[in-house]
Amino acid sequence: MARWRRQSVLCCVTIAVFCTLLQGGSTDEIGHYTNDFVVEIDGDMAVADLVASTTGFSVEKQLTSVGDGVFHFVHSGVSSRSKRSADDLLARLLANPSVRRAEQQRELTRVKREIIYDKQKELPIRTYEDKSVYQRFKAPNIVRKDNIPNPKDSQNHIKFNDQYFPDQWYLVNTGQSGGPVGYDINVESAWRKGFTGKGVVVTILDDGIDHTHPDLALNYDPLASGDLNDKNDPLNDPTPDKTKPTNAHGTRCAGEVAAIANNSNCCVGVAYEAKIGGVRMLDGKVTDMLEAQALLYHNQHVDIYSASWGPKDDGKTMEGPGTYVKRALQKGVTEVSQTERG
Ligand SMILES: *[C@@H]1O[C@H](CO)[C@@H](O)[C@H](O)[C@H]1NC(C)=O
Repeated sequence: MARWRRQSVLCCVTIAVFCTLLQGGSTDEIGHYTNDFVVEIDGDMAVADLVASTTGFSVEKQLTSVGDGVFHFVHSGVSSRSKRSADDLLARLLANPSVRRAEQQRELTRVKREIIYDKQKELPIRTYEDKSVYQRFKAPNIVRKDNIPNPKDSQNHIKFNDQYFPDQWYLVNTGQSGGPVGYDINVESAWRKGFTGKGVVVTILDDGIDHTHPDLALNYDPLASGDLNDKNDPLNDPTPDKTKPTNAHGTRCAGEVAAIANNSNCCVGVAYEAKIGGVRMLDGKVTDMLEAQALLYHNQHVDIYSASWGPKDDGKTMEGPGTYVKRALQKGVTEVSQTERG
């Protein structure tokens, strides 16, 4: 009998290992369980408090933007990072008649999207002062084969005095860096028609935004900004934690969108008259719940959310949006923003 039992245990172990192999690398990508729970309740904060106290939880926050009766619960007895789910606690919550739904949050792997390989980094950086020898990247002379007259040949281009504007060949390519003339995103024609971002509010969901940056400060919109990583930040200020140099991503993304044009400083944003904000949310534990909060942050004020991060970008990782991110996306397309005209 004992031997048989041992064999069956071995068999189960074998099956478990086989299942893991079948799933390939994907098991590594599923994050640890956290001590954060999203609990949906029929009732207000008082009901939530009662549910929490009778189940051993505490209410961290009401997630008003995510939906009615949605609360963030934490349990002090649960590890903030665990391989095991707290099924017993979840069952305890669900047994409460006021609880509609409950879900333990898992930590998601989030990787900032970066230029993986930048050929220009191999070449010496142009010295701005020496305008006469502007040449950083000498590309082979590529000739357009399609015989379409090149619009860039016959135009006077918009000239901005920002010193790195000529490096932004992808905005306006006059062949200034040796690449093919006109191979750009053709934004100049949009600018000429007056589409410069004016009247549009953009927020960058990332590791923060250095909003005192001289190329951003005048376009900065505090109403499109907040700090979801530091709940104790009384100013709700999205300034990144600069002790970690990797926290430059959000500021960089903000510049790509809305760096001020023609201020003799740095570069030009693609929508240089847009209002720009930042929600600090990537410098800490990321969960479905947190992503949803970010995507709904002041959604009656923000027009566009920019999120340039995601699961591992290794060509073999696939991940869809979680429960609350799906809901956030749905809300985003069904609820009209106040700045929308018409
Ligand atoms: C940029 O500013 C300069 C003055 O420094 C001005 O002459 C020029 O017209 C401005 N360019 C644009 C496109 O507004």
